[in-house]
Amino acid sequence: MKILAIESSCDETAVSVVADGRKVLSNVIASQIAKHAITGGVVPEVAAREHIKAMMPVLKTAMKEAGVTKDDIDAIAVTREPGLIGSLVVGRITASALAFAWDKPLIEVNHIHGHIYANWLETEAEPEFPIITLTVSGGHNELWLMRGHGDAELLGETVDDSAGEAFDKVARLLGLGYPGGPIIEVRAKNGDSNAFKFPIGMKNDKNFSFSGLKTSVFYTLKDNPAILDNEKMVDDVAASFQKSVVDALLIKLMDAVKKYPVKEVHLSGGVSANGYLRARVAEELGKIARCRLADGPGRDGSPCERNELCLRYPKKLSYCTDNAAMIGAAGFYLTGKKFE
Ligand code: KG4
Ligand code: ZN
Repeated sequence: MKILAIESSCDETAVSVVADGRKVLSNVIASQIAKHAITGGVVPEVAAREHIKAMMPVLKTAMKEAGVTKDDIDAIAVTREPGLIGSLVVGRITASALAFAWDKPLIEVNHIHGHIYANWLETEAEPEFPIITLTVSGGHNELWLMRGHGDAELLGETVDDSAGEAFDKVARLLGLGYPGGPIIEVRAKNGDSNAFKFPIGMKNDKNFSFSGLKTSVFYTLKDNPAILDNEKMVDDVAASFQKSVVDALLIKLMDAVKKYPVKEVHLSGGVSANGYLRARVAEELGKIARCRLADGPGRDGSPCERNELCLRYPKKLSYCTDNAAMIGAAGFYLTGKKFE
Protein backbone atom coordinates (compact mmCIF):
# COMPACT_ATOMS: atom_id res chain seq x y z
CA MET A 1 0.00 0.00 0.00
CA LYS A 2 1.46 3.34 -1.07
CA ILE A 3 0.57 6.44 0.93
CA LEU A 4 1.24 10.00 -0.20
CA ALA A 5 1.82 11.92 3.03
CA ILE A 6 1.80 15.67 3.70
CA GLU A 7 3.19 17.50 6.75
CA SER A 8 3.00 21.27 7.24
CA SER A 9 2.32 21.81 10.95
CA CYS A 10 5.19 24.19 11.69
CA ASP A 11 8.03 25.45 9.49
CA GLU A 12 8.72 22.49 7.19
CA THR A 13 6.72 21.85 4.02
CA ALA A 14 7.10 18.11 3.55
CA VAL A 15 5.70 15.48 1.20
CA SER A 16 6.64 11.80 1.11
CA VAL A 17 5.59 8.56 -0.53
CA VAL A 18 5.76 5.60 1.86
CA ALA A 19 5.09 1.96 0.98
CA ASP A 20 3.55 -0.34 3.60
CA GLY A 21 4.36 2.03 6.47
CA ARG A 22 8.10 1.43 6.42
CA LYS A 23 9.65 1.82 2.98
CA VAL A 24 10.38 5.45 2.12
CA LEU A 25 10.13 5.98 -1.64
CA SER A 26 10.67 9.73 -1.36
CA ASN A 27 10.93 12.25 1.46
CA VAL A 28 11.09 15.86 0.32
CA ILE A 29 11.37 18.70 2.84
CA ALA A 30 11.46 22.45 2.14
CA SER A 31 12.78 24.01 5.32
CA GLN A 32 12.01 27.59 6.32
CA ILE A 33 14.83 27.71 8.87
CA ALA A 34 16.72 30.47 7.02
CA LYS A 35 13.62 32.72 7.12
CA HIS A 36 12.94 32.12 10.82
CA ALA A 37 16.59 32.43 11.84
CA ILE A 38 16.26 36.17 11.09
CA THR A 39 13.57 36.53 13.77
CA GLY A 40 15.02 33.90 16.12
CA GLY A 41 11.86 31.79 16.00
CA VAL A 42 8.90 30.83 13.84
CA VAL A 43 6.53 33.67 12.91
CA PRO A 44 3.20 31.88 12.15
CA GLU A 45 2.09 34.29 9.41
CA VAL A 46 5.44 33.96 7.61
CA ALA A 47 5.35 30.15 7.98
CA ALA A 48 1.89 29.88 6.40
CA ARG A 49 2.88 32.03 3.44
CA GLU A 50 6.02 29.95 2.88
CA HIS A 51 3.94 26.74 2.89
CA ILE A 52 1.70 28.15 0.16
CA LYS A 53 4.77 28.85 -2.00
CA ALA A 54 6.47 25.52 -1.37
CA MET A 55 3.61 23.01 -1.33
CA MET A 56 3.10 22.33 -5.05
CA PRO A 57 6.82 22.13 -5.99
CA VAL A 58 7.49 19.82 -3.00
CA LEU A 59 4.51 17.63 -3.93
CA LYS A 60 5.64 17.32 -7.55
CA THR A 61 9.23 16.52 -6.54
CA ALA A 62 8.12 13.87 -4.02
CA MET A 63 6.02 12.07 -6.65
CA LYS A 64 8.77 12.31 -9.24
CA GLU A 65 11.48 11.02 -6.87
CA ALA A 66 9.25 8.12 -5.82
CA GLY A 67 8.56 7.35 -9.49
CA VAL A 68 4.80 7.29 -8.96
CA THR A 69 1.70 8.77 -10.58
CA LYS A 70 -1.66 9.32 -8.93
CA ASP A 71 -2.72 5.83 -10.07
CA ASP A 72 -0.04 4.23 -7.86
CA ILE A 73 -1.25 6.03 -4.71
CA ASP A 74 -3.68 4.14 -2.45
CA ALA A 75 -4.38 6.86 0.13
CA ILE A 76 -3.46 10.41 1.18
CA ALA A 77 -2.26 11.02 4.74
CA VAL A 78 -1.98 14.45 6.30
CA THR A 79 -1.11 16.02 9.65
CA ARG A 80 -4.40 16.93 11.32
CA GLU A 81 -3.05 18.65 14.46
CA PRO A 82 -1.40 19.95 16.64
CA GLY A 83 0.48 22.81 15.02
CA LEU A 84 0.22 26.37 13.77
CA ILE A 85 -3.26 26.75 12.32
CA GLY A 86 -2.25 28.74 9.21
CA SER A 87 0.44 26.14 8.46
CA LEU A 88 -1.85 23.15 9.07
CA VAL A 89 -4.53 24.59 6.79
CA VAL A 90 -2.19 24.59 3.77
CA GLY A 91 -1.41 20.86 4.18
CA ARG A 92 -4.95 19.84 5.01
CA ILE A 93 -6.56 21.69 2.12
CA THR A 94 -3.98 20.27 -0.28
CA ALA A 95 -4.59 16.73 1.01
CA SER A 96 -8.37 17.09 0.90
CA ALA A 97 -8.24 18.43 -2.64
CA LEU A 98 -6.02 15.55 -3.81
CA ALA A 99 -8.19 12.95 -2.08
CA PHE A 100 -11.30 14.41 -3.71
CA ALA A 101 -9.82 14.86 -7.18
CA TRP A 102 -8.12 11.43 -7.24
CA ASP A 103 -10.93 9.65 -5.38
CA LYS A 104 -8.60 8.27 -2.66
CA PRO A 105 -9.20 7.85 1.07
CA LEU A 106 -7.94 10.67 3.30
CA ILE A 107 -6.15 9.63 6.52
CA GLU A 108 -5.73 12.31 9.17
CA VAL A 109 -2.75 11.83 11.49
CA ASN A 110 -1.84 13.43 14.80
CA HIS A 111 1.61 15.04 14.46
CA ILE A 112 2.96 13.43 17.65
CA HIS A 113 1.81 9.98 16.53
CA GLY A 114 3.76 10.74 13.36
CA HIS A 115 6.94 11.38 15.38
CA ILE A 116 6.39 8.10 17.24
CA TYR A 117 6.05 6.15 13.98
CA ALA A 118 9.28 7.63 12.60
CA ASN A 119 10.83 4.67 14.42
CA TRP A 120 9.14 2.27 11.99
CA LEU A 121 10.70 3.91 8.91
CA GLU A 122 13.25 1.84 7.04
CA THR A 123 13.42 -0.84 9.71
CA GLU A 124 14.43 -4.35 8.68
CA ALA A 125 12.06 -5.97 11.16
CA GLU A 126 9.01 -4.33 12.70
CA PRO A 127 9.49 -2.99 16.23
CA GLU A 128 8.15 -5.35 18.88
CA PHE A 129 5.60 -4.42 21.53
CA PRO A 130 5.42 -3.46 24.34
CA ILE A 131 7.36 -0.27 23.74
CA ILE A 132 8.15 2.78 25.87
CA THR A 133 8.35 5.75 23.52
CA LEU A 134 9.56 9.24 24.39
CA THR A 135 8.76 12.03 21.94
CA VAL A 136 10.72 15.23 22.46
CA SER A 137 10.29 18.00 19.91
CA GLY A 138 10.04 21.76 19.73
CA GLY A 139 6.39 21.72 20.71
CA HIS A 140 5.85 18.41 22.47
CA ASN A 141 7.17 16.23 25.23
CA GLU A 142 5.28 12.97 25.74
CA LEU A 143 6.06 9.58 27.23
CA TRP A 144 3.86 6.67 26.11
CA LEU A 145 3.56 2.98 26.82
CA MET A 146 2.48 1.23 23.60
CA ARG A 147 1.08 -2.28 23.88
CA GLY A 148 0.11 -2.41 20.21
CA HIS A 149 -0.83 -0.16 17.29
CA GLY A 150 -3.45 2.16 18.72
CA ASP A 151 -3.20 0.58 22.17
CA ALA A 152 -1.27 3.12 24.17
CA GLU A 153 -1.19 4.81 27.56
CA LEU A 154 0.12 8.32 28.17
CA LEU A 155 2.58 8.08 31.08
CA GLY A 156 3.61 11.75 31.22
CA GLU A 157 3.77 15.00 29.30
CA THR A 158 5.11 18.50 29.77
CA VAL A 159 3.04 20.87 31.85
CA ASP A 160 4.69 23.93 30.26
CA ASP A 161 7.54 24.11 27.71
CA SER A 162 8.84 21.16 25.75
CA ALA A 163 12.53 20.28 25.90
CA GLY A 164 13.08 21.48 22.32
CA GLU A 165 11.49 24.82 23.12
CA ALA A 166 13.87 25.16 26.08
CA PHE A 167 16.83 24.45 23.77
CA ASP A 168 15.61 27.16 21.38
CA LYS A 169 14.99 29.73 24.12
CA VAL A 170 18.30 29.14 25.90
CA ALA A 171 20.18 29.35 22.59
CA ARG A 172 18.48 32.69 22.03
CA LEU A 173 19.52 33.90 25.51
CA LEU A 174 23.08 32.85 24.70
CA GLY A 175 22.93 34.61 21.32
CA LEU A 176 23.54 31.36 19.43
CA GLY A 177 20.79 31.53 16.78
CA TYR A 178 17.87 29.33 15.68
CA PRO A 179 17.13 26.45 15.93
CA GLY A 180 18.87 26.11 19.28
CA GLY A 181 19.16 22.35 19.72
CA PRO A 182 21.90 21.56 17.19
CA ILE A 183 23.96 24.66 18.15
CA ILE A 184 23.74 23.94 21.88
CA GLU A 185 24.75 20.33 21.25
CA VAL A 186 27.89 21.49 19.40
CA ARG A 187 28.82 24.14 21.97
CA ALA A 188 28.19 21.73 24.86
CA LYS A 189 30.87 19.37 23.52
CA ASN A 190 33.57 21.82 24.64
CA GLY A 191 31.83 22.77 27.89
CA ASP A 192 31.86 21.48 31.45
CA SER A 193 28.40 20.10 32.27
CA ASN A 194 29.03 20.54 36.01
CA ALA A 195 30.06 24.20 35.78
CA PHE A 196 26.53 25.47 36.50
CA LYS A 197 23.86 23.83 38.63
CA PHE A 198 20.51 24.20 36.88
CA PRO A 199 17.27 22.74 38.30
CA ILE A 200 15.42 19.63 37.21
CA GLY A 201 11.71 20.42 36.99
CA MET A 202 9.05 18.26 38.69
CA LYS A 203 11.60 15.63 39.66
CA ASN A 204 9.11 13.51 41.61
CA ASP A 205 6.14 13.86 39.28
CA LYS A 206 5.13 11.77 36.27
CA ASN A 207 5.02 14.89 34.10
CA PHE A 208 7.80 17.07 32.70
CA SER A 209 8.49 20.79 33.19
CA PHE A 210 11.19 22.88 31.53
CA SER A 211 10.15 26.50 32.12
CA GLY A 212 11.92 26.69 35.52
CA LEU A 213 15.16 25.54 33.91
CA LYS A 214 14.84 28.19 31.22
CA THR A 215 14.16 30.86 33.86
CA SER A 216 17.17 29.69 35.86
CA VAL A 217 19.43 30.12 32.81
CA PHE A 218 17.88 33.56 32.24
CA TYR A 219 18.71 34.74 35.79
CA THR A 220 22.18 33.20 35.71
CA LEU A 221 22.95 35.29 32.62
CA LYS A 222 21.25 38.39 34.03
CA ASP A 223 23.28 38.16 37.25
CA ASN A 224 26.53 37.41 35.40
CA PRO A 225 26.40 39.31 32.08
CA ALA A 226 30.14 38.70 31.57
CA ILE A 227 29.31 35.07 30.68
CA LEU A 228 28.12 36.18 27.26
CA ASP A 229 31.54 37.69 26.44
CA ASN A 230 33.37 34.52 27.39
CA GLU A 231 33.25 31.69 24.82
CA LYS A 232 34.31 29.06 27.34
CA MET A 233 31.60 30.08 29.79
CA VAL A 234 28.97 30.01 27.05
CA ASP A 235 30.09 26.44 26.29
CA ASP A 236 29.78 25.64 30.02
CA VAL A 237 26.23 27.04 30.21
CA ALA A 238 25.30 25.05 27.08
CA ALA A 239 26.72 21.83 28.54
CA SER A 240 25.16 22.34 32.00
CA PHE A 241 21.78 23.20 30.49
CA GLN A 242 21.85 20.20 28.12
CA LYS A 243 22.72 17.91 31.05
CA SER A 244 19.77 19.21 33.07
CA VAL A 245 17.36 18.58 30.18
CA VAL A 246 18.67 15.07 29.62
CA ASP A 247 18.70 14.27 33.36
CA ALA A 248 15.03 15.33 33.54
CA LEU A 249 14.07 13.20 30.53
CA LEU A 250 16.02 10.22 31.85
CA ILE A 251 14.37 10.20 35.30
CA LYS A 252 10.89 9.66 33.82
CA LEU A 253 12.07 7.40 31.02
CA MET A 254 13.96 5.06 33.35
CA ASP A 255 11.11 4.99 35.89
CA ALA A 256 8.83 3.79 33.09
CA VAL A 257 11.31 1.23 31.76
CA LYS A 258 11.75 -0.23 35.25
CA LYS A 259 8.00 -0.32 35.88
CA TYR A 260 6.84 -1.95 32.63
CA PRO A 261 8.38 -5.09 31.11
CA VAL A 262 8.97 -3.63 27.66
CA LYS A 263 10.90 -5.03 24.72
CA GLU A 264 11.90 -1.73 23.17
CA VAL A 265 12.61 1.88 24.09
CA HIS A 266 12.13 4.53 21.41
CA LEU A 267 13.20 8.16 21.18
CA SER A 268 11.65 10.50 18.61
CA GLY A 269 11.11 14.16 17.73
CA GLY A 270 13.69 16.84 16.93
CA VAL A 271 15.55 16.49 20.24
CA SER A 272 16.10 12.76 19.59
CA ALA A 273 18.72 13.91 17.06
CA ASN A 274 20.85 14.88 20.07
CA GLY A 275 23.89 12.62 20.41
CA TYR A 276 24.35 13.32 24.11
CA LEU A 277 20.73 12.28 24.84
CA ARG A 278 21.15 9.09 22.80
CA ALA A 279 24.39 8.16 24.55
CA ARG A 280 23.02 8.81 28.03
CA VAL A 281 19.87 6.75 27.36
CA ALA A 282 21.97 3.86 26.00
CA GLU A 283 24.22 4.08 29.06
CA GLU A 284 21.32 4.02 31.55
CA LEU A 285 19.52 1.17 29.77
CA GLY A 286 22.78 -0.76 29.74
CA LYS A 287 22.82 -0.63 33.54
CA ILE A 288 19.55 -2.52 33.88
CA ALA A 289 19.56 -4.85 30.90
CA ARG A 290 21.57 -6.04 27.99
CA CYS A 291 20.66 -3.20 25.70
CA ARG A 292 21.59 -2.63 22.13
CA LEU A 293 20.63 -0.44 19.29
CA ALA A 294 18.01 -2.04 17.07
CA ASP A 295 19.14 -1.81 13.46
CA GLY A 296 20.36 1.72 14.04
CA PRO A 297 23.29 3.42 12.39
CA GLY A 298 26.49 1.40 12.54
CA ARG A 299 24.77 -1.84 13.49
CA ASP A 300 24.17 -4.97 11.45
CA GLY A 301 20.46 -4.49 10.87
CA SER A 302 19.42 -7.76 12.46
CA PRO A 303 16.49 -7.84 14.84
CA CYS A 304 17.20 -7.86 18.57
CA GLU A 305 17.67 -11.20 20.23
CA ARG A 306 15.49 -12.38 23.11
CA ASN A 307 16.23 -10.87 26.50
CA GLU A 308 17.66 -7.77 24.91
CA LEU A 309 16.17 -4.36 25.40
CA CYS A 310 16.27 -2.59 22.05
CA LEU A 311 16.87 1.10 21.82
CA ARG A 312 15.66 2.79 18.66
CA TYR A 313 15.72 6.30 17.40
CA PRO A 314 14.83 7.31 13.84
CA LYS A 315 17.24 5.91 11.28
CA LYS A 316 18.03 9.29 9.77
CA LEU A 317 18.33 12.71 11.39
CA SER A 318 15.76 13.94 8.85
CA TYR A 319 13.25 11.48 10.38
CA CYS A 320 13.79 13.01 13.86
CA THR A 321 12.76 16.51 12.91
CA ASP A 322 9.52 17.24 11.05
CA ASN A 323 9.00 15.21 7.89
CA ALA A 324 6.12 13.63 5.97
CA ALA A 325 7.45 10.05 5.86
CA MET A 326 6.56 9.66 9.55
CA ILE A 327 3.00 10.80 8.76
CA GLY A 328 2.81 8.12 6.05
CA ALA A 329 4.00 5.47 8.54
CA ALA A 330 1.52 6.51 11.24
CA GLY A 331 -1.26 6.70 8.65
CA PHE A 332 -0.53 3.14 7.56
CA TYR A 333 -0.39 1.59 11.05
CA LEU A 334 -3.10 3.62 12.77
CA THR A 335 -5.85 3.64 10.14
CA GLY A 336 -9.06 2.62 11.86
CA LYS A 337 -7.37 2.66 15.26
CA LYS A 338 -7.35 5.11 18.12
CA PHE A 339 -4.17 6.04 19.94
CA GLU A 340 -5.28 6.27 23.53
O1 KG4 B 1 10.20 17.65 15.89
P1 KG4 B 1 10.61 19.01 15.47
O2 KG4 B 1 11.26 19.16 14.13
O3 KG4 B 1 9.43 20.02 15.49
C1 KG4 B 1 8.34 20.00 16.35
O4 KG4 B 1 7.44 19.15 16.18
O5 KG4 B 1 8.35 20.84 17.27
O6 KG4 B 1 11.59 19.52 16.62
C2 KG4 B 1 12.28 20.72 16.52
C3 KG4 B 1 13.05 20.90 17.80
C4 KG4 B 1 13.68 22.28 17.94
O7 KG4 B 1 13.32 22.79 19.21
C5 KG4 B 1 15.16 22.01 17.85
O8 KG4 B 1 15.94 22.91 18.60
C6 KG4 B 1 15.25 20.60 18.40
O9 KG4 B 1 14.12 19.96 17.88
N1 KG4 B 1 16.47 19.91 17.95
C7 KG4 B 1 17.44 19.51 18.79
C8 KG4 B 1 18.47 18.96 17.98
N2 KG4 B 1 18.06 19.02 16.67
C9 KG4 B 1 16.83 19.60 16.68
N3 KG4 B 1 17.55 19.59 20.12
C10 KG4 B 1 18.67 19.12 20.69
N4 KG4 B 1 19.70 18.61 19.99
C11 KG4 B 1 19.65 18.49 18.63
N5 KG4 B 1 20.67 17.98 17.95
ZN1 ZN C 1 7.37 17.79 15.10
